[in-house]
Amino acid sequence: MDAAEVKEIYNRQVKTKLGGDYEHRRWFSNDLKKAGYEMTRRVVEWHCLEKIELLEDCLELGSGAGTWTKLFLEKCPDAKFDLVDISGEMLDQAKENLGSYQNIRYFEADFLDFKPDKQYDLFFSSRALEYVPDKKRAVLKIAGLLRSGGRGFIITKTPKYLRARVFGRKIPRLHQGQIAPRKLKQLLSEAGFKNIAIYPATMSFPLFKSPKLNRLLFKVFYKHGLNFLSQFFSESYCVKFEK
Ligand SMILES: C[S@@+](CC[C@H](N)C(=O)[O-])C[C@H]1O[C@@H](n2cnc3c(N)ncnc32)[C@H](O)[C@@H]1O
Repeated sequence: MDAAEVKEIYNRQVKTKLGGDYEHRRWFSNDLKKAGYEMTRRVVEWHCLEKIELLEDCLELGSGAGTWTKLFLEKCPDAKFDLVDISGEMLDQAKENLGSYQNIRYFEADFLDFKPDKQYDLFFSSRALEYVPDKKRAVLKIAGLLRSGGRGFIITKTPKYLRARVFGRKIPRLHQGQIAPRKLKQLLSEAGFKNIAIYPATMSFPLFKSPKLNRLLFKVFYKHGLNFLSQFFSESYCVKFEK
């Protein structure tokens, strides 16, 4: 799906289907989603923030309502964040959510067209890369945006296309752009990144829709590198890398 269609969908959904409150509808409106929020939060705290004391220039792709930006700013309130999102409606939600922080700039743009005026120490993105049509260009763009020694963290959906085919499930076009962990690692490596490590992020026990089981799987797997078993149960994964 091209970027213009993604923009149109997100702008429309935020106003209609999501009732103008993306963050609540996406992360808190039922127990399953709350479990997804807790798992993602733990992943951000453990993998992205644990060893960070000071943050200067940071870039977030597809910030949505700024749900995860908040965590970075709670730990490093002086960090300068640039948020790039293709949806103006989403950025309005982020502005409402993050209004108390003066050190944020908001850019309504397709990431691939974004023209930064500086380089960054940190790149972060949660659940947005899967909507960027050209992953290779996206990864090369990240490589150009990061300073030498800069760090990147991407949380993105684990494709389950084979499973969908087996169960005869049709994947909506919006969700057909997910990239396999191995492929993303290869693109990052080709772009020159080092110390690339992949971990499970949110976990989902197939068919049961059980927050309890999902949390249990998460507890078992989240500190260990993604492997065949954890990939099977992962709904999303987190890639860490350095320039
Ligand atoms: C599923 S939401 C994730 C929002 C937030 N990061 C979160 O985890 O709650 C995906 C976000 O990525 C944005 N997005 C999709 N494609 C994009 C692109 N090409 N450039 C910039 N933002 C994009 C959408 O507008 C949306 O806000």
